[in-house]
Amino acid sequence: MIIIYIIFGLMITAMIMAVIETRILRVTHYEIIADCPSDQDEKTVRIAIVSDLHCTRFGKKNKRLIDKIAGQKADFLIVAGDVINSRPGDLRYAVEFFDGLRNEGVEAYYFFGNHEQKLVLYGENELQIFENEMKSHVRIVNNDTVEVKGTVLKGLLIPLRMYRDSLSNIAGYFDATGLAGSFCDDGKYHILVAHDPTFVDYYRDINADLTIGGHLHGGIIRLPFVGGLISPRHRLFPGKTKGLYDEGNGKLLVTSGVGWHALPFRFLNDPQIVILEIKMRR
Ligand SMILES: [Fe+2]
Repeated sequence: MIIIYIIFGLMITAMIMAVIETRILRVTHYEIIADCPSDQDEKTVRIAIVSDLHCTRFGKKNKRLIDKIAGQKADFLIVAGDVINSRPGDLRYAVEFFDGLRNEGVEAYYFFGNHEQKLVLYGENELQIFENEMKSHVRIVNNDTVEVKGTVLKGLLIPLRMYRDSLSNIAGYFDATGLAGSFCDDGKYHILVAHDPTFVDYYRDINADLTIGGHLHGGIIRLPFVGGLISPRHRLFPGKTKGLYDEGNGKLLVTSGVGWHALPFRFLNDPQIVILEIKMRR
């Protein structure tokens, strides 16, 4: 009987921990050494990355999250999608977040995820209304390219149906380079931001040095030696859910995000702000 009590106690403790964990903010540091073009000086680019906020607030007007990001003194911030929860009224949250960042002097670039795109489910124009409004608050990079601090950023807007279709169907219709184009071989450091890293094999022709994604929430529950437990597609042990990985000729960085959606907990998986230093050396 006592064993049942102990197991029950441990389960209750884990559940309380998992809910409390959604309020923690942790900064994770990664470093990449990259080749520096011969006509340029060696330098380090410091990039902050957040994803999957899902309307989560850390303090009034998200001040704790905004201050934590601003305090990292990054050269710029990549916001890799799913700031909102697919509802037109979430616009207020996105405006509050990006205005707060701007007030703190943070230079942000916003790449849409599936939850921005799902605004179309409320009406054909809802996504366009959201994008038009947000344009005056932050630089949006969807199927577009922008050069920032010696890096070239490209945003891939993954078609919404890909998030729902079975993986085996996708190869038949998904052309990532057709949507976003490929990087020129110009010696610069090329970063692709694509919200869902599950499709990383399809991004290869874009020729990025680094691909950044989120979406998987670190697998929600993380187990020692195993990693993430479940994906938004309800696949068990989805693999690359959090970390910096070698991927083809480049790297893949997957952030576990800062918020939660549907399941209001995270286990051994603190909300994450990533700081990535790219050291360009000869
Ligand atoms: Fe997502």
